[in-house]
Amino acid sequence: MLKNKVAIITGGTRGIGYAVAELFLKNGAKVAVLGSRAETVDKAVASLSEKFGAENIAGYYPDLTEYSAVEEMAKDVKEKFGKIDILVNNAGISAREPIEAYDPDAFKNIMDLNVTAVFNGCKAVVPFMKENGGGCIINTSSMVAKEGQVSGVGYPASKFAVNGLTISLSRELGKYNIRVNAVAPGVTRTDMVAALPEEMVARVAANIPMGRVGEPSEVANCFLFLASDMASYVSGAVLNVDGATIN
Ligand SMILES: NC(=O)c1ccc[n+]([C@@H]2O[C@H](COP(=O)([O-])OP(=O)(O)OC[C@H]3O[C@@H](n4cnc5c(N)ncnc54)[C@H](O)[C@@H]3O)[C@@H](O)[C@H]2O)c1
Repeated sequence: MLKNKVAIITGGTRGIGYAVAELFLKNGAKVAVLGSRAETVDKAVASLSEKFGAENIAGYYPDLTEYSAVEEMAKDVKEKFGKIDILVNNAGISAREPIEAYDPDAFKNIMDLNVTAVFNGCKAVVPFMKENGGGCIINTSSMVAKEGQVSGVGYPASKFAVNGLTISLSRELGKYNIRVNAVAPGVTRTDMVAALPEEMVARVAANIPMGRVGEPSEVANCFLFLASDMASYVSGAVLNVDGATIN
């Protein structure tokens, strides 16, 4: 479904992003996998290269919150693979403190990575996508960007911003044949979820109409759909992948 496409995936070293990288590679794409540290990026690149060939994979660990670093990475990907067709903005962090305990720096960090880095990625790839006659950006939102959550205001605030950025940018870039969408996962079995107390995960699963949390592969399938020509007229959408969760 992605034969000869070139994709950049932030937060591609584990969890949802790694599942997306695997699925895109399996479907014929060349993939730049991004993470926060050299070791984790090298590890992900090594395991993906074993399965899909080192020539189809590149690893980067730019500071996503610094525009110049992201721009440099995008230029390098274009040089290495010849073009940029797809950007998946997936790197994200969370914190659940109530507001009195919420460290203002933690709030800033969440906004920097979950929102500013998404802006940086979009800004850096748009010139290459325009040059290429089109492209596709997929941002990772969250189910909490529907109704918010009870504690940890920064995370839902950041994901509401992701939805706003996604929808607005889809309007701005439609005329260039650049589609901009978001995937909004529900609770998905990744490290982020493993870090939550087990009883919280069980309580959440019991409240999901489908009775379970999602798997990274199930979320990755939605990224594949949106990245592919199957979604050629889909732009400005936020696709819920949450087992019908009532948030
Ligand atoms: N897992 C869930 O239940 C769930 C639900 C809804 C939305 N999401 C969203 O999905 C995305 C991926 O979540 P996940 O659960 O796979 O996360 P994860 O914690 O398993 O992986 C996060 C990824 O982001 C990267 N990352 C973290 N901090 C970074 C930084 N400062 N700079 C660059 N990269 C950094 C990591 O290297 C890693 O590859 C996030 O945007 C998250 O908000 C996850």
